Amino acid sequence: MAQILSSISSGISHTNSVENGYTDLDWDNIGYGVTPTDYMYMMKCSKDEEFIDGQLIPYGNVELSPAAGVLNYGQGLFEGIKARRREDGRIVLFRPDENALRMKVGAERMCMPSPSVDQFIDAVKKSALANKRWIPPPGKGSLYIRPLLLGTGPILGMSPAPEYTFLIYVTPVRNCYFKEGSTGLHLYVEDQFHRAFRGGAGYVKSITNYAPVLKPLTNAKDRGFSDVLYLDSVSGKYIEEVSSCNIFIVKDKTISTPATNGTILPGVTRKSMIEIARDIGFKVEERQISVEELLEADEAFCTGTAVVVVPVGSVTYQAQRVEYKTTNINSVSERLLSTYDAILNGQLGGKNTGWLVEIN
Ligand code: COI
Repeated sequence: MAQILSSISSGISHTNSVENGYTDLDWDNIGYGVTPTDYMYMMKCSKDEEFIDGQLIPYGNVELSPAAGVLNYGQGLFEGIKARRREDGRIVLFRPDENALRMKVGAERMCMPSPSVDQFIDAVKKSALANKRWIPPPGKGSLYIRPLLLGTGPILGMSPAPEYTFLIYVTPVRNCYFKEGSTGLHLYVEDQFHRAFRGGAGYVKSITNYAPVLKPLTNAKDRGFSDVLYLDSVSGKYIEEVSSCNIFIVKDKTISTPATNGTILPGVTRKSMIEIARDIGFKVEERQISVEELLEADEAFCTGTAVVVVPVGSVTYQAQRVEYKTTNINSVSERLLSTYDAILNGQLGGKNTGWLVEIN
């Protein structure tokens, strides 16, 4: 058993044995926290230049000016991608080009330069491969890859930062972000706080969309809920998205999800599930969905990189709680999840083959 000592300037260190190419984590109990891994990726550029010369460096803390744009004015974006190890030994990424393109859209909104799609994918591949021993065995979870685009140059006046850093760190995670996974999420419909508003940045993965939901999310978790479902900030009548994922409803075999109208994150899993659902014969509508429709739905489920596809077990809106059956193996969410798994495992050919990027 080889012993590998990984110790970095930040003081973070770990001694891990490697057996059969794996680090010695307890793979049956991975969790959803940050496990320090071996390497991260860093690439920098100044305001009017392009990113060049990215490199892998040991995983550790980063040094920042106290006046960094990201620290003072929240000029930052993040992405989430998973690398999965298959039974056939291959390691695959799911549609990383979509994350790269979404980062470009976000960068434009947040006045930042962004890496090209090729640079982004190359960096994601390198980050996963350099940390290969942290990619969980097949079925036990995945390597969560977190690309960040940050305004790291110092700035005091309200202007874009003079320097930017594209940074990727990775960490092994269990299959579903939520412990309750297939038993169903308990969602609280929030009618006081909003996540996004017209003309804001709800449609990009800006870090500034996440801190404001911590308050309603913490309140809801303290009351036993899994997560919060937000309503539109204009009328308070229509459902938008959950703090960590997109939402779908099913009524009479038609699947519906809120349209991406500027206040909803265009999730890569959301987009993929719409395509998969249409391919397997469902009618899918992207439109405004009232809370009443959600309460009367046959089924509801959430999608996201972290959550993948997870059924909703109950929704609580003001004094009303509605429960949905989550044990039906023929539910729409089960069918979507099993089709998605089949695509990832290379069991479905056709156009979905192009969704996978193999890295080993
Ligand atoms: C993801 O699904 O990758 C996300 O960004 C959600 C995150 C808040 C865990």
